[in-house]
Amino acid sequence: MSDEAAEINSSSHLRLKTGTTVGPGRFTLIRELGRGGMGVVWLAQDISLGEQVALKFLPPEVCHDPVALNDLRRETVRSHRLTHTNIIRIHDFQQQPDGIAFISMEYVDGQTLSGWRLQQPRQVFTWEQLAPLVHQLCAALDYAHGEGVIHRDIKPANVMLDSRGRVKLADFGIAAVLSDSASRVSGRSSTGGTLAYMSPQQLSGKMPSVADDVYALGATLYELLTGRPPFFSGDLPHQILNVPAQPLSERLLDLGVDNPVPPEVAALVMACLAKGTGAASAECQRRRGMDWRRGQPTDRAGANGGRGIAGSST
Ligand SMILES: Nc1ncnc2c1ncn2[C@@H]1O[C@H](COP(=O)(O)OP(=O)(O)O)[C@@H](O)[C@H]1O
Ligand SMILES: [Mg+2]
Repeated sequence: MSDEAAEINSSSHLRLKTGTTVGPGRFTLIRELGRGGMGVVWLAQDISLGEQVALKFLPPEVCHDPVALNDLRRETVRSHRLTHTNIIRIHDFQQQPDGIAFISMEYVDGQTLSGWRLQQPRQVFTWEQLAPLVHQLCAALDYAHGEGVIHRDIKPANVMLDSRGRVKLADFGIAAVLSDSASRVSGRSSTGGTLAYMSPQQLSGKMPSVADDVYALGATLYELLTGRPPFFSGDLPHQILNVPAQPLSERLLDLGVDNPVPPEVAALVMACLAKGTGAASAECQRRRGMDWRRGQPTDRAGANGGRGIAGSST
């Protein structure tokens, strides 16, 4: 990391606390909702809209990166166009004269699937719990892909469940820009997204494609059903590029987790994780991803009455 980057990273220019107003004067901060690798998220009252919103404050290094700020401005405009009940709505990107930059978005009164998983008895979801959520997740992805928008950072931490048990997919288009910026400043290579859920083609620096989201969906479901993503220790890039993911049933046996997964579901997860960087493979993965909505798993979701986790939640 360069000296300049280290200095920016160590600066704590975000002196945010309850009652602080930003925007300027439009948003009053209520409480911190959480922190991720790329910034801090606050619940705020939006005086103009008259409702509560979530504000994602960008880390200092991104606020000093003109390329990232431009990319984010563009991505928030694109994401703003997405209107879907299972996608967290992005409202606006704002940068203040003092340098603080944030994204305002729909506030979700709920928890992420990574948080929910840890509260399950064996720290995994059963397929019966997961099926209705996968159905909603695929509806969100089908819609966004139809609008020409790729997520590029699907992971359990970016899938929230609101208090009514509805899936809300977070950070559309934003997460990958943020992580690209962080690596430009740090001098380390980046391909956007989060390594454990990243497709081989995204890792290789290929242009964004639907197949990236299909792979990340597979890696996300693999973790939610087994407790670990397909690759989780050692040389992750090497494994993502070269090593086939361990069949889901074998992984469950290895980890000693008793969580029967219907074979057709396990097969679909593994199909999403199939490797290959060619266009044919991408199309194949895309079609396999679509099967979640048409095939057995989706039918089971219907039989569940659309409840699953929500039935035992908040
Ligand atoms: N729109 C939102 N509404 C409510 N909580 C949110 C929202 N977006 C993010 N959060 C909370 O803030 C935390 C940090 O989010 P984020 O910075 O996106 O980190 P991550 O890298 O885990 O995606 C999340 O885990 C979630 O608990
Ligand atoms: Mg997030």
